[in-house]
Amino acid sequence: MRILVIIGGISKDSINKKLFELIKPLAPKDFEFDIYDISLLPFYSQDIESDFSESVLKFKEKIVACEGVLFITPEYNRSIPGVLKNAIDWCSRPYGAGLWNKKPSAVLGASMSTIGTFSAQADLRKILSSLGSLVMYQPEVYMNFSAYVDAKGEFFESTKKLYENFLRSFEEHILKSKSIYC
Ligand SMILES: Cc1cc2nc3c(=O)[nH]c(=O)nc-3n(C[C@H](O)[C@H](O)[C@H](O)COP(=O)(O)O)c2cc1C
Repeated sequence: MRILVIIGGISKDSINKKLFELIKPLAPKDFEFDIYDISLLPFYSQDIESDFSESVLKFKEKIVACEGVLFITPEYNRSIPGVLKNAIDWCSRPYGAGLWNKKPSAVLGASMSTIGTFSAQADLRKILSSLGSLVMYQPEVYMNFSAYVDAKGEFFESTKKLYENFLRSFEEHILKSKSIYC
């Protein structure tokens, strides 16, 4: 099962990148992760929406080729970072040729506060469902990074269980979506 991972922020020492590294070994055996670096994308504009650069083309190919998209996003000012919205917008156009429709997706995120990306995740689910993506709404995991990992930067056992359950549920969600829509 090809899972495209999109990290919503582009900072070098991103805790959301670390979160991805921590959940990788907890994924179901048939998950094959691919990642796309959204910092490679230009700013979307309607003026260039049909004139794809190499990076846009590659991104679009990866969206088409995967069985599901896993978003792991920071929260910026109670919503998603602009770079992530830019990436989503690219694959929503040209009008009528968007790639999100019926694409299974799931949302995770880590922040440095107790809010744990709640607000960003809620906004992201709203955006994705408006584009027809089959978003998994349950279970949800909101991560306060400093509280969920130990001094060595490893997960506590209880945290592992949360993410194992999340990823197993995403696998089921993809299989169910396929059986209904494919
Ligand atoms: C512009 C900006 C806005 C932020 N807004 C929020 C916020 O609304 N809620 C929150 O929990 N953390 C917020 N933070 C703190 C982030 O949780 C923290 O910087 C985190 O490390 C970002 O994730 P990343 O390391 O994966 O980039 C903000 C950080 C920045 C730079």
